[in-house]
Amino acid sequence: MSFSLSDAVKLPCGLVFPNRIVKAAMAEMLAGFGHNPTPSLVEVYNQWGQGSWGGLLTGNVQVDVNHIGSPFDPALHGEYKGKESCETLVENWSNYARACQQHGTPAIVQISHPGRQSFRGTGKRGFFASTIAPSAIPVQMGTSFIEWLMGCIAFPAPREMTQADIDTVTRQFIDTARLMADSGFSGIELHGAHGYLIDQFLNPKTNIRTDAYGGSPEKRAKFVLDIIRGIREVVPVNFCIGIKLNSADHSLSTFDDTMTQIRLLIEAKIDFLEVSGGSYEDPKPQKSARTAAREAFFLEFARETRKRFPNLVLMLTGGFRSRMGAEFALKENACDLIGIGRPATIDPKFPRMLLDESIPDEQAQLLLNKVPAPFFTRIFPSHIIGAGLETTYYGGQIGRISKGLKTVAPPA
Ligand SMILES: Cc1cc2nc3c(=O)[nH]c(=O)nc-3n(C[C@H](O)[C@H](O)[C@H](O)COP(=O)(O)O)c2cc1C
Repeated sequence: MSFSLSDAVKLPCGLVFPNRIVKAAMAEMLAGFGHNPTPSLVEVYNQWGQGSWGGLLTGNVQVDVNHIGSPFDPALHGEYKGKESCETLVENWSNYARACQQHGTPAIVQISHPGRQSFRGTGKRGFFASTIAPSAIPVQMGTSFIEWLMGCIAFPAPREMTQADIDTVTRQFIDTARLMADSGFSGIELHGAHGYLIDQFLNPKTNIRTDAYGGSPEKRAKFVLDIIRGIREVVPVNFCIGIKLNSADHSLSTFDDTMTQIRLLIEAKIDFLEVSGGSYEDPKPQKSARTAAREAFFLEFARETRKRFPNLVLMLTGGFRSRMGAEFALKENACDLIGIGRPATIDPKFPRMLLDESIPDEQAQLLLNKVPAPFFTRIFPSHIIGAGLETTYYGGQIGRISKGLKTVAPPA
């Protein structure tokens, strides 16, 4: 059976997405130095909320203000003890939830801890304080001297988490999910991608522990499974729990381990799995061998997940730019949900175009050029600069939406 973009999707918890086009998580950089929802953040979701999206995933919300990903992420500032004792906090987050959902679109908050990938000087940790990680393995941005140097400057060396650290961070994830449920959001998505803390635990390259949290794919999954079980105990039954994995964080050599971990996540009753890391739809045929290999692995990862776990609600994110591409993925039964990132920052109402049948297929698309690199960036390794440029550029467009300014696609 094949589905159409306008079909609703019901998750195991009972939550219904009114259609299959979901705005992917994108760090908005709008929470200021206070790391709280601001009027700008609320305004941008007020705009996205009117876009006929099937669901809105927020940008990452950090579970500990001492360990944040980018300088203006929203974050939890301390223990959350329930709405009776934190009325102002809940009111603040409720404003944000209302802006997202007032037009009938469910909003899911992406909750996150960067672990060893917390930039030096961000958050309230202090400039020289170490980061935390499953094992004390520093971030390696590449093999050249300049990549090594950039890694040392950007990220302090991590220290191995103690059992007490693990208990604290587990509680922080649970607290954050509970705050989001109390504030009226429809669910959370655990950020298990981009080399962040959950991924650091799942991955044998960054987790060489020999205790209950390391040594086998099952033990490496214990951290995230405990978080999911803990969240289930404090949120309503219809509150959604999803997780995002990035295929680029995994490899052929650990493919079966990853599939074992996905099985465990399903047994822990996740409502959906989002996979990103490549491009399903492919409007630009010319790409480097490195990119082509990454994208082939992304497709292999997604197809194998679908084959092994056909009942899992699967969202694919990466490269979708047109109605034809998105419908092709659904017709092939590659996924249930289509995740849209960068186009959402140029056209906050992008789904309206895709769903409007009076617009011909050939016009129902938003192709985007690569963000051009300024000349002074050419001395840096292209893969580091490339990702940073795209994030900075499209983050800037989110800022423009929040100010009511016209957005601008990258020039040809
Ligand atoms: C400005 C920007 C910020 C992003 N922030 C996040 C984030 O907070 N969490 C996350 O999981 N992915 C983040 N991403 C990745 C997107 O969710 C998505 O996986 C990626 O952009 C690929 O989809 P696209 O080709 O539709 O843009 C970000 C991407 C951009 C462009």
